[in-house]
Amino acid sequence: MKKRQRRIEDEEEEVGDGNEEEDEVAEEHPQDDEECADDAEDGGHDICEMPIVEVITPPDKPKKVLEVGCGDVALGVDLAADLVKMQEDTDIGAELLVDEISCIDYSDIVVKTLIEKQKKEHNGSSSTLQASFHSLDARSLHYAPNTFDLVLEKGTLDAMLSDKDEGKQNCIQIVKEMARVTNIGGSILIVSHLNANESKGMKWLEDVVFSGLKAEFRERREAIKKQQAEFYSWSIHIHGGEGQLIKDEDDEEVMSYGPAVYIIKKKSVPADRAQELFSSKKKDAKNVESENGDETELTLPPVKVEFLTYD
Ligand SMILES: C[S@@+](CC[C@H](N)C(=O)[O-])C[C@H]1O[C@@H](n2cnc3c(N)ncnc32)[C@H](O)[C@@H]1O
Repeated sequence: MKKRQRRIEDEEEEVGDGNEEEDEVAEEHPQDDEECADDAEDGGHDICEMPIVEVITPPDKPKKVLEVGCGDVALGVDLAADLVKMQEDTDIGAELLVDEISCIDYSDIVVKTLIEKQKKEHNGSSSTLQASFHSLDARSLHYAPNTFDLVLEKGTLDAMLSDKDEGKQNCIQIVKEMARVTNIGGSILIVSHLNANESKGMKWLEDVVFSGLKAEFRERREAIKKQQAEFYSWSIHIHGGEGQLIKDEDDEEVMSYGPAVYIIKKKSVPADRAQELFSSKKKDAKNVESENGDETELTLPPVKVEFLTYD
């Protein structure tokens, strides 16, 4: 596994102008990760490379998990089954790690199918950890801010983008809602065919993911100004293949990228660091002083992006 890093300076005022361009300060540090090197050699991915394990450990308290747009093969169901299996094999109580898994989907039919399937499969089972299913719109979640330690999304944003008119805006709204309900210290985990190792994926990261995080920031900016909201920032780990050359149908060599897993972490910012991190000089501060003489404004702190690629 190889790592490289870059910091993306997130200029909030550019969003207000409708200009989504990010100011990128690239700083690349290719380096080997010895911990997982053995497994990369034989082509397999060791458990230490599995993002989900990284996200839910260490278990300082049971985690709450939400899956949005779960479809009829919900990741949350697999997670519950894996935890129950782990419990049987290790005697570690599954509910000490995770005590709530809520899977939501827009479609009543999907939710009804999942509920019926679970009833059939768990009839007579003594396992207590089970996913629950709810018919909800991911663009407008009724959960309080900072509720879930892990928010899962697989394929729904990708599918939505096929709507040329409203797809992008719907995706931004969903990322905004996922960002809002994720607990401080928790993470959003997105599985997408748009791999940021290629330009199309990087554009999606900027247009959809950063825009969603900025929208969530804008929503609480007034409360932050009045020191009535907690300070937090974001970092992103991108797990995915760097791409390999394959032959297309015309026998031409093209680069092929697999899906990527994005782990978007919501990190607490200590109050004494907040001023420095959230305040930035107004662009025109040299020439025009604002009415109250304030030359700074609140912006979303830079999002640190780290690529973890697999051969
Ligand atoms: C492409 S499927 C992905 C399903 C599943 N995550 C998977 O990987 O197989 C997209 C799912 O998102 C649901 N969906 C679409 N818009 C939604 C919305 N606004 N809120 C919640 N779910 C939505 C659809 O009903 C569908 O089940």
